[in-house]
Formats: sequence, structure tokens, C-alpha cells
Amino acid sequence: MADWYTNFANSGFGTTVTKQLGLPRPAVLRRYEPGRPLLPGPVVIGSAGSGRLRETLTRVVTDAGGTVLPAVEPDGEKPAAVLLDATGVTGPGQLVAAHDFLAPAIKRLRASGRVLVLADPPADADSPATAAARQALDGLVRSIGKELLNGSTANLVFVPEGAESSLASPVRFFLSGRSAYVDGQVVTLSAADVPTGEDADRPLAGRVAVVTGAARGIGAAIARVMARDGAHVVAVDIPAAGQSLAEVANEVGGTALQLDITAADAPARLVEHLRERHGGVDVVVHNAGITRDKLLVNMDAARWNSVMAVNLQAQLDITEALLAAEGVLRDGARVVCVSSQSGIAGNRGQTNYAASKAGIIGMVRAWAPAFAARRATINAVAPGFIVTEMTANMPFGTREVGSRINSLQQGGLPVDVAETIAWLAQPGSAGVNGQTVRVCGQSMLGA
Ligand SMILES: NC(=O)c1ccc[n+]([C@@H]2O[C@H](COP(=O)([O-])OP(=O)(O)OC[C@H]3O[C@@H](n4cnc5c(N)ncnc54)[C@H](O)[C@@H]3O)[C@@H](O)[C@H]2O)c1
Repeated sequence: MADWYTNFANSGFGTTVTKQLGLPRPAVLRRYEPGRPLLPGPVVIGSAGSGRLRETLTRVVTDAGGTVLPAVEPDGEKPAAVLLDATGVTGPGQLVAAHDFLAPAIKRLRASGRVLVLADPPADADSPATAAARQALDGLVRSIGKELLNGSTANLVFVPEGAESSLASPVRFFLSGRSAYVDGQVVTLSAADVPTGEDADRPLAGRVAVVTGAARGIGAAIARVMARDGAHVVAVDIPAAGQSLAEVANEVGGTALQLDITAADAPARLVEHLRERHGGVDVVVHNAGITRDKLLVNMDAARWNSVMAVNLQAQLDITEALLAAEGVLRDGARVVCVSSQSGIAGNRGQTNYAASKAGIIGMVRAWAPAFAARRATINAVAPGFIVTEMTANMPFGTREVGSRINSLQQGGLPVDVAETIAWLAQPGSAGVNGQTVRVCGQSMLGA
């Protein structure tokens, strides 16, 4: 399923009309389907520095059932993904090797292709020239994202020395259809104990996952994707949404828990429910969120307070309670918090909402070391324009502009946010911690 314009632009009649009028023709994105190959074609791997990760990358691709092309020939097989190992780059002069590898490879890239660059983190560089070369890759990747056509994406992963074993899960995610709407993103890995032997189609098998705000929209999509990936879902929402909450919980074979997450006793009730009914929890997705928009000068305290309470304070209080309750947050737990592009770019009329969503980004960064010490992780996703009931009610013009001003020229789907959250929830994503990943199709806002 894509939005109406994408469907229209890809129909026979729509193709003719959009061509003649010079209108954008957004691609139908390649999305994940369990059991399908990781990629619809081979991967080409190149390097621009010492090539420290080349062997690991080759192994990750072949272990996932992919094939690696030795090189891209002008008339040869087209790659579905282009991986550049730029580790070991020590100065800007070496970057021309990135250009020399990427240009011909990207020329041959298939539709919904992937460009993924791996590099050392600029913050770890021992000289300004090295830091400059590493940071240059950020500008390179973001620009490639804006040049790619046909639903292809470009992303960058910084891999510190010692974090090589954290690489498999992010590489699989960025190559797969799970990352369909993740574009122009930068993720920095950390060294971690990464469990092996995960079932690629059911990576959450045997796990208990709490999803707040699960009665509809993005939360319901998260519940479905988590259940598809093998988790038992505890779906949480306010009592007023009880009917649809029960429907979602039944559909995914999970449990419904009616709970207003801002209630004073909500953290204690959730902890007790998880302890009594499930013996603990492995994954917590803080998805529930509200908007109460007004220009700051017209905003009353009630609007400010309610948004802060649901979007930020409840996440802090519940997470603190889970950390404090002995034996409830299990070893290797994953907490994923839903932020927003508004928290990065700011948004007119949303000072309260943007402040709460920016707060999430600070919160996960600050909590990451404490989570790592428990072999757990905490991360955020920041959705851009996602096609939901909320956005369907926007005026036509605002909705159309809002959904097109990104490199993929279309709004994302709730499932795109859900897939990114489910990836962060995987046991294999142990080396992704304290990060905020935008699911925004490389939106121009806050880029
Ligand atoms: N839709 C978008 O384009 C978009 C963009 C960026 C971020 N987000 C964020 O994604 C999340 C989900 O958004 P959505 O579009 O699905 O929203 P939605 O309004 O469709 O769903 C939110 C759910 O949260 C529940 N909820 C609200 N207050 C609650 C409370 N006190 N206790 C328990 N549950 C509560 C609601 O009942 C509802 O079921 C939110 O955090 C939102 O801020 C959405």
C-alpha cells in the first residue's frame, strides 16, 4: 500500500499524465516481507581507506543469503546495493577513492537500491584532517540521498574500533525493505556483546513487548510488526480506546492493558502487570503521544502540560520504574521511544510538542550508558510525515506539500516506523544505543 498519488503516478494513465505535466513520480518502495531474500540483486563492496570492515561486510551479506559482485561492469549485472567501506581514511585526499567507486556503481543501481557507507566516527579522529575526511562522508551521503531516484536510499554508519561485531544487524536493516523510508541517516555504533543465532524471520520470538498507544495509528502497526516478528505484545492505551485496543490485541494474539500512562499509579501498575502476568519484559515501546497545537503566545498551561505529561514525563517515569523494579526489565532489554521530526526541526504552532519530542532525544542519549551497563539499549525513532488518521484530516494543500518535501517524494506508512522500531528491538541490535533514527524519507525539514 502506498499513498493515493504514488499509486496514481505509477498507473498507466498516471505515468503519462505525470510525464507530460512534469510532476514528480514517487516510486513504490520495496518493503520487507518475511521469507523474501534480503535484496532483489547482488551487492557490490568497495573501499576508500584501509578496508578494515570489508571482510566482515562480505560475511554479513553472504550469511544473510546475499551475493557479492566483485565489481560493477558498465554492461554487467546491476547491483541492488552499494557498500562503501571508508574506514581508515586519514585525509580529504583519500576521498576521491569514494567518488571513483561510488559513481559507476550508483549509475547501475537498481530501483529501491541501497547505498550504505561505513566509516570511523569523526569524534574518535586523532587529527583535524582525519576528522574532516570522516565528517565529509556525512555530507557526501546526505547529498547522494538527494540525488538517488526510484526509491533508493543512502545512509551512513559510523563504526568505532572494537564495534565490528555490532555491524550485522544495522547492515541487514539498511539493505532490507525494513528501512524503506529511512534515508539520509547517520547511526553511530558502539561495542557490545551481540548474541548470535537469531532467526532472521522471527527475531523477537519468545520476547514480551509493551507498546503504548497501541489502539490505532502507528502504535497498532508496531503491535502487528512486533507480533509478526515473534513477540507477545502487551498493548496499552487509555480506557476510552478500550474497544479498538482489544481488537488490536486480539488480532496480534497479545494482551490488552487499559492504562492512562500519565496517571500517578501508571508506572507501578504497568510494572505489576508485567511481573504478575509475564514474569518481566524484554521490549518497551513508548509510542503514545498527543498534540495540542497553538502558537506559543496563545498557548494555555493546560495544552503545555498535557503534551509534556504524555509525550515526555510518562516515558521518563515508566522507564525509571522499570529500571528500579528488580528483575522486571530483563537482561538485554530494548527500550524504543517515539520522538518526531518536529523535535529536530521545530514546527510552527508546536512549541509544546517539539519541546517534548526534542526532550526524548536528550533522554535516550543520557540514559544510554546506564542501559549499556545492563546489556540493554535505549533509542528513539523520529518519524517525519507519516500517513495516518491524524495526517488524513489535514487540509489537502498542507498534506500534499508536507508529504512530498522529502527525497522519496511521498509520506511514510505506519509500518515504516514500526519496522525501524522492531529492528532496534532485535537482540542483534545490541550495538545501537542512545541513537535517534529518523524515519522521514530524508525530509528537507530539519535535515
Ligand atoms: N503521524 C505522524 O505523522 C507522526 C509524526 C511524528 C511523530 N509521531 C508520533 O508517533 C506516535 C504515534 O502517533 P499516531 O499518529 O499513531 O497518533 P494517534 O493519535 O493515531 O495514536 C496515539 C495513541 O496514543 C494513545 N494515547 C494518548 N494519550 C495516552 C495516554 N495518556 N495513555 C495511553 N495512551 C495514550 C491514543 O489513545 C492513541 O491510541 C506519537 O508519539 C506521535 O507523536 C507521529
